[in-house]
Amino acid sequence: MRIPVDRDGPTPIWRQVAAALRTEILSGALPPGARLPSTRRLAADLSVSRILVENAYAELAADGLVEGRPGSGTFVAGAAPGRPVSTAPVDEVSFRGVGDPDLYPVKAMTNTIRDVVRRDGSAVLGYGAEVSGHPPLRATIAQMLASQGIHVDPRDVLITSGSQQGLALVFFALLRRGDPVVVERPTYDGALELLANLGAEVIGVDVDRDGMRVDQLADIVSRHRPRLIYTVPTFQNPTGASLAGDRRRRLLEIAESVDAVVVEDDFVGDLHYDGPTQPALRSLASPGRVVYLGTFSKLLMPSVRVGYLVADREPMERFVSMKRSLDLSTSLLMQVALDRYLAVGRYQAHLARCARLYRPRRDALVAAVRRDLGWDVSPPTGGLFLWARLPSGLGSGALADAAEKRGTGLAAGAPFFPDGVGGERFARLNFVVNGPERMREGVRRLQLAVEDLHGPAQR
Ligand SMILES: Cc1ncc(COP(=O)(O)O)c(C=O)c1O
Repeated sequence: MRIPVDRDGPTPIWRQVAAALRTEILSGALPPGARLPSTRRLAADLSVSRILVENAYAELAADGLVEGRPGSGTFVAGAAPGRPVSTAPVDEVSFRGVGDPDLYPVKAMTNTIRDVVRRDGSAVLGYGAEVSGHPPLRATIAQMLASQGIHVDPRDVLITSGSQQGLALVFFALLRRGDPVVVERPTYDGALELLANLGAEVIGVDVDRDGMRVDQLADIVSRHRPRLIYTVPTFQNPTGASLAGDRRRRLLEIAESVDAVVVEDDFVGDLHYDGPTQPALRSLASPGRVVYLGTFSKLLMPSVRVGYLVADREPMERFVSMKRSLDLSTSLLMQVALDRYLAVGRYQAHLARCARLYRPRRDALVAAVRRDLGWDVSPPTGGLFLWARLPSGLGSGALADAAEKRGTGLAAGAPFFPDGVGGERFARLNFVVNGPERMREGVRRLQLAVEDLHGPAQR
């Protein structure tokens, strides 16, 4: 049996072996009942120690994919057709999540953090001198933003603990209970939760393929006089839609007309695959109109917990004071390590690699969803998510439950709608977390979940 083994990579060899066999089993290449090579044979074939192969087999057995038969060897397990599905799914193929964990730059970050601690010692283990963040990192971010047409002084950049904290700072500093806020409908559920906690009055504006329906906006703002307009204009969460260029300008004009602050959440704007790119709202706006939020969570890794907020002097003072009250500072060690990682140009290379790998995954999922599920999707030109309109009669809440029992997962639509209304007809699928093979397996499981609910006719 041939299994490619990367001896220098970050993934332990036994995991690589287990993953390769898992793929063979789930794809049917190794059918139920097939005998796996003996651990001694496979170890010799791969020139690895036998214990590594034993570990791999043990993991597959723990997942219920193989079973050992004393005296005769290890065999592929598997439900015979028609047998009920297990409620404890093996090896979930999920369409939830953000980036692909296999692309987290484990080695580079390990080395960078180790080097930084060695170099700076205790100086990097304290709070840091400024609540607003490590000045060199703020300067590096200002430079990165300049290449996107956003020209800011590093003092106008505030480092936040993820962009979720950026949202909290802005909403808590600028809103009082009952204040009207305009959001896209649907929009990022974490922002909706924050606004609900604050007791803000949330007003939704519909989204189509070109982003927020700004034709609805003029009327809404003149009736509600919102303090803030929250938007994810580029590769939106959850729809993947990008706000068209003319709509960007119109949105800013309308915000101007009622003196509303625009909060631009640019959580994956750099992850572009094809089609035209659009300028950030912040780069088009007059001073003071747009607060811009960015993050390294989706394109690097969430646990770095570094995001940033760009704002003008006056509101910035309030955001900094709020930041001090919330957590005193974002981890200095992470800020210094990230700055070093960015400064040597690794981030751009990493971004380019992610885009190269994610684009065919988008295409594979779009094709499989259309062909095998018959769902209505429009491919986004970047980002992480595919937003699907489900066939009539298929509710996304029930589908998410059925999918879980079949060992897969998607995000039901309702939490992305301010009032939950309308979300049942939609589901969000992340297309970057799985390679094409696992993705097809995930779609097959979704087919089974649909059949569990409605029988084969629904497909
Ligand atoms: C649109 C959007 N904004 C902000 C966030 C918050 O991310 P983080 O705090 O990890 O930067 C998320 C997370 O999923 C998101 O989808």
